[in-house]
Amino acid sequence: MPLLLIKMINKSRGKILGVLALFLVMVWYSIYREDSFYFPVQENKTTCPLGEVERKAAQLIGNYTRDHPLFLQLKDYFWVKTPSLYELPYGTKGSEDVLLRLLSITHYSLPKSIQRLKCRRCAVVGNGHRLRNSSMGETINTYDVVIRLNNAPVHGYEQDVGSKTTMRLFYPESAHFNPRTENNPDTLLVLVPFKPMDFQWMEAILNDKKRVRKGFWKQPPLIWDANPEQVRILNPYYMEVTAAKLLNLPMKQPRKVKQKPTTGLLAITLALHFCDLVHIAGFGYPDSANKKQTIHYYEQITLKSMAASEHNVSHEAVAIKRMLELGLIKNLTYF
Ligand SMILES: *[C@@H]1O[C@H](CO)[C@@H](O)[C@H](O)[C@H]1NC(C)=O
Ligand SMILES: *[C@@H]1O[C@H](CO)[C@@H](O)[C@H](O)[C@H]1NC(C)=O
Ligand SMILES: *[C@@H]1O[C@H](CO)[C@@H](O)[C@H](O)[C@H]1NC(C)=O
Repeated sequence: MPLLLIKMINKSRGKILGVLALFLVMVWYSIYREDSFYFPVQENKTTCPLGEVERKAAQLIGNYTRDHPLFLQLKDYFWVKTPSLYELPYGTKGSEDVLLRLLSITHYSLPKSIQRLKCRRCAVVGNGHRLRNSSMGETINTYDVVIRLNNAPVHGYEQDVGSKTTMRLFYPESAHFNPRTENNPDTLLVLVPFKPMDFQWMEAILNDKKRVRKGFWKQPPLIWDANPEQVRILNPYYMEVTAAKLLNLPMKQPRKVKQKPTTGLLAITLALHFCDLVHIAGFGYPDSANKKQTIHYYEQITLKSMAASEHNVSHEAVAIKRMLELGLIKNLTYF
């Protein structure tokens, strides 16, 4: 028997090798096909993980909900049914009158182009020096929503930071940017209110009233050429969540040890309540030992200048690291 089998195999060795070769070609072809056909689909799945941000954010943020509007609306200030628990920056208690005037000239809706997105892929662009020479511009521009902070320039830095700006978060002292040249025509200018004076400044600018000069820690711009239809007032709820849930700060602080979240961490919190995917770039400060390292990609200030601020940079870094570890956010630059 075995002899017969060997004879048979010897006779048809060519055929067997042929069949084997054909089989290998088929396997190779099907793997190759699967690769080229399925890879893009897989990529789309990973670029829109619907529901994942909500699920992971709920692990980190107690009582996480997406029920709160992003921006303040006039109708909520005609007659205040349930007054805010807190004063600024965590609530609007005591600022109702000026809000009534301000909200009557600004808007609160999201642009249609964002409303109709099936997947909101967001990039929050910090102002950190790590963006310098990063060549991240093109990547940043591919996100549906690009959130920028304060006076971060775009003009002249497009290669590293991109040119798309869906929203820019700012407060009066950080509004030293040209609203037209550093933004796109449809950029939303989102005021982050820290104190009642901030509403007054915004109202004076938009209604061209007499400017108030006192009560700011740095002189805000006196002329600011923005279209009121693009101005939004951020709901202080997000500042409250950032402070209370991410930094565990007490909501009622004794006057001397005031500590407030940075606009950067606030912007990440906002994105966690609004986006289906949150990537960050340009976050992180240099090592505290590195006193000479500049902290921003566009200006020569160092960590020393942060010492007097009301922000706790290392405390915030811990919060961001936890989000990175959870896979809640992803970093495009190193942290
Ligand atoms: C996958 O993503 C690409 C590029 O982003 C897009 O052109 C394509 O239509 C997407 N496919 C599906 C099935 O969503
Ligand atoms: C969640 O909400 C409940 C009811 O308002 C409150 O008692 C509780 O302290 C909240 N938890 C957190 C973590 O904020
Ligand atoms: C960025 O690149 C330029 C030109 O290649 C170089 O001169 C400069 O030192 C770089 N800056 C940093 C911060 O790496």
